[in-house]
Amino acid sequence: MPVSAYDRIAGLYDAWSTGVVEDISFYVEEALASGGPVVELGVGTGRIAVPTALAGVHVIGVDSSAGMLAVCAEAGRAAGVADRLDLRRGDLRRPPVTERVPLVTCPFRAYLHLGSDAERLEALAAARALLLDGGRLVFDVFAPSDEDIEETHGLWLEREPGIFERADWDRAARTLTLSVRGDAGESSMTLWWLEPQRWQALLAESGFSVEACYGWFDRRSYDGGEDSVWVARK
Ligand SMILES: C[S@@+](CC[C@H](N)C(=O)[O-])C[C@H]1O[C@@H](n2cnc3c(N)ncnc32)[C@H](O)[C@@H]1O
Repeated sequence: MPVSAYDRIAGLYDAWSTGVVEDISFYVEEALASGGPVVELGVGTGRIAVPTALAGVHVIGVDSSAGMLAVCAEAGRAAGVADRLDLRRGDLRRPPVTERVPLVTCPFRAYLHLGSDAERLEALAAARALLLDGGRLVFDVFAPSDEDIEETHGLWLEREPGIFERADWDRAARTLTLSVRGDAGESSMTLWWLEPQRWQALLAESGFSVEACYGWFDRRSYDGGEDSVWVARK
């Protein structure tokens, strides 16, 4: 597999995302409600997978970054849940998973790394194929507001102590080039955003029925904000 942009920041990612905690209990609740096991696509360093395993649910975690998976494996060992974390290197469009599960998740905007509808449809079909009948795909994405773009465009901002982040937005192409740097590494990656209506259409085209589209992880209804959290049933 090609080297991932995340490999260069695997040692930085947890410190970079220290402030991102609002989604953890949401995904853990979804995992518990499903009964598990859960396939997490883009599992990263286990920010969500480790708490999920601590709650007693078995997680199959897929990620294309060997560096992120290594950090996740160590976090699982440190938390005493290595036996509930099954980590596999692979592409979320072609996950190396033969098991069928009641819940597939793709937290923290990992689907925004897909750059075309063809890739998105491939990924959604792959997620659907992993699900048991009636199983659910849960993921979150965002589309930036004009204010967000204007306030952050091209600026290096200190997101966490010693960790700087820069967003370069291209409204026409709907891309965000996100750069991060700190003592433990630096990298740059591209995210492609879509309006929620497009996600809804892609889910329908992939054969999912949308059960809920929340505007935040407290399950409030989507009301036009930047974030959307999708629950789609096979
Ligand atoms: C924003 S991080 C989210 C990590 C974790 N789910 C979390 O919530 O902290 C996105 C993750 O998706 C992974 N990723 C991006 N594109 C991928 C792909 N095509 N296949 C598998 N993993 C991918 C990256 O390596 C990274 O670990």
